[in-house]
Amino acid sequence: MKLEGKTAIVTGGGSGIGRGICLRYAREGASVVVADLDTASAEKVAEEIKNADGKALAVTVDVTDREGVKNMVATAVKEFGGLDILVNNAGVGKIIPFLETTEADFDFFFGVNCKGLMICSQEAAKQMIAQNRGGKIVNLASQAGRRGESLVMAYCASKAAVINMNQSIALALAEHKINVNAIAPGIVDTPLWVEIDKQFAKLLGWEIGEPKRKFTESIPLGRIEQPEDVAGAAVFLASEDADYITQQCLNVDGGNWPS
Ligand SMILES: NC(=O)c1ccc[n+]([C@@H]2O[C@H](COP(=O)([O-])OP(=O)(O)OC[C@H]3O[C@@H](n4cnc5c(N)ncnc54)[C@H](O)[C@@H]3O)[C@@H](O)[C@H]2O)c1
Repeated sequence: MKLEGKTAIVTGGGSGIGRGICLRYAREGASVVVADLDTASAEKVAEEIKNADGKALAVTVDVTDREGVKNMVATAVKEFGGLDILVNNAGVGKIIPFLETTEADFDFFFGVNCKGLMICSQEAAKQMIAQNRGGKIVNLASQAGRRGESLVMAYCASKAAVINMNQSIALALAEHKINVNAIAPGIVDTPLWVEIDKQFAKLLGWEIGEPKRKFTESIPLGRIEQPEDVAGAAVFLASEDADYITQQCLNVDGGNWPS
């Protein structure tokens, strides 16, 4: 087990990729704080882990609310004795044509995907620094952060910012032996992509399911990505095997970028 004795917080842990990471971290021996805006889904994932003899706790949090984030970290410390790993996975996205993108859309994506990541990283890092035993932060970027797209401008920009923030935060925390790395997934089969598929279908005049099928056809490894594919990389980046890796953004996308 690669994360035995570690405590991990996974934001957005109640769904999709976050859920996959929570389940895998628990199997690797970590105590997992499933942190999500959606209390019911966080509790469901925590129950799933406990039913499989793992250690987990659900916490309701809005990653954009500093007091709530402080409470999330304090709860992890109180219940499990410290904090070793933070996964900044909570994220929001939508397909919106450039000319129809509003200030509210822009602020919403940047608020959750970037400001939330900053607040969670700051509060987790303060705890890790106080413990003086290093730590790991894993950020969910996206292939969308590698290039712009006409129907996804604000989301792409927010994920490009995540890739950049990942570097700055890694440099800022290196002296504390806190490794900070990102993962850039491709097209992952999650509730988020169910919505994205519907939005693309409407805008392109395609059948529902067609965008997912067509975009998946061009993935070199020939299949859609699963949360478990991301979870494997998230275990590696949170483990001792990654002790000499920081500031990196790892593409986990079946070879989709830059082909
Ligand atoms: N699905 C993909 O194809 C894909 C590809 C690349 C990157 N990503 C990124 O991976 C991450 C997870 O995506 P997913 O597909 O699993 O999404 P999802 O919608 O299935 O899950 C996201 C979770 O985040 C939670 N959340 C949203 N706003 C929150 C907030 N303010 N505070 C706390 N929790 C909040 C939601 O309640 C939900 O449980 C996101 O950052 C996303 O941008 C996804």
